[in-house]
Amino acid sequence: MEALALERKAEQNRELRERLMQLKKERNAIILAHYYQRDEIQEVADFRGDSFLLAQKAASTDADVIVFCGVHFMGESAKILAPHKTVLVPDERAGCPMADMVNPIGLRELKAKHPNAKVVTYINSSADVKAETDICCTSANAVKVVNSVDSDEIIWCPDKNLGHYVSQHTDKKMIIWEGYCNTHDMLTIKDVEEMRAKYPNAEFVVHPECRPEVVAMADFVGSTTGILKYCRESNHKEFIVGTEDGTGYQLRLDSPDKTFHFASKFLVCPNMKVNNLKKVVRALETMQPEIYVPQDVADKARLSLERMLLVK
Ligand code: 13P
Ligand code: SF4
Repeated sequence: MEALALERKAEQNRELRERLMQLKKERNAIILAHYYQRDEIQEVADFRGDSFLLAQKAASTDADVIVFCGVHFMGESAKILAPHKTVLVPDERAGCPMADMVNPIGLRELKAKHPNAKVVTYINSSADVKAETDICCTSANAVKVVNSVDSDEIIWCPDKNLGHYVSQHTDKKMIIWEGYCNTHDMLTIKDVEEMRAKYPNAEFVVHPECRPEVVAMADFVGSTTGILKYCRESNHKEFIVGTEDGTGYQLRLDSPDKTFHFASKFLVCPNMKVNNLKKVVRALETMQPEIYVPQDVADKARLSLERMLLVK
């Protein structure tokens, strides 16, 4: 962008931030932002987090209105956990293709084939699927949740890559759904090899939504929060990062003296990037788009989320 356009954008963002402050007070609203959101949203968030921390925050906040900046299933989870609050999203088109890869009919069919199995569903799923689920998990607690379940047989959905990672850390039999994240699944062995050749002193950290053969190359495997913590606490100064590029905002904030190279230019979730600051302000101005979950679905889905929040 040329200098004048950059200046104009900075001025616009200043005005939007001021308007947002005012609206937040008027509505008693809180802004929750996933680590994959654009920097301009993470900058104004009251709370940044991964899907687990954000679900916890939604369940415990005193605010009347939650503006959930992430993708649709995250806003839905917030509404399920805080049914009396108004949950807004900046743009209802921000979905998660992986969440759409499983539906309640298919899941019911699989349950019928494995009547003794318990269903563990990644939080990246619709409310309808959560309503068919025994317990939810996120990438931050997936292994702990699976091992906490009172059954030797687990139906796991929808992410096959995270499912494969979990299966290496449990003795339980895992029946794994074939879903995947279009963004993380795009990272290849070749991408990582090229980055390692370019940055031989860097450690490679990766999200378990990546392919098993890529995860096997990593110096550290962890959820978004796991990666942030590892990089913050490590004595290493340089990292190749195998997760979504929005994470760079918090990585650089935590460790301004360290260098982060994203493992591929394709590690950008287009769904997360549908949201922007202007849309956050507009959501609070118009109180739209609002998330609704039918009560019968929400009541069933809530059990699966609350069970997850109780796992220590
Ligand atoms: P986290 O569970 O690490 O927040 O990841 C959510 C997600 O959408 C990953 O692609
Ligand atoms: Fe869904 Fe992948 Fe985007 Fe996460 S990064 S929201 S799993 S598409």
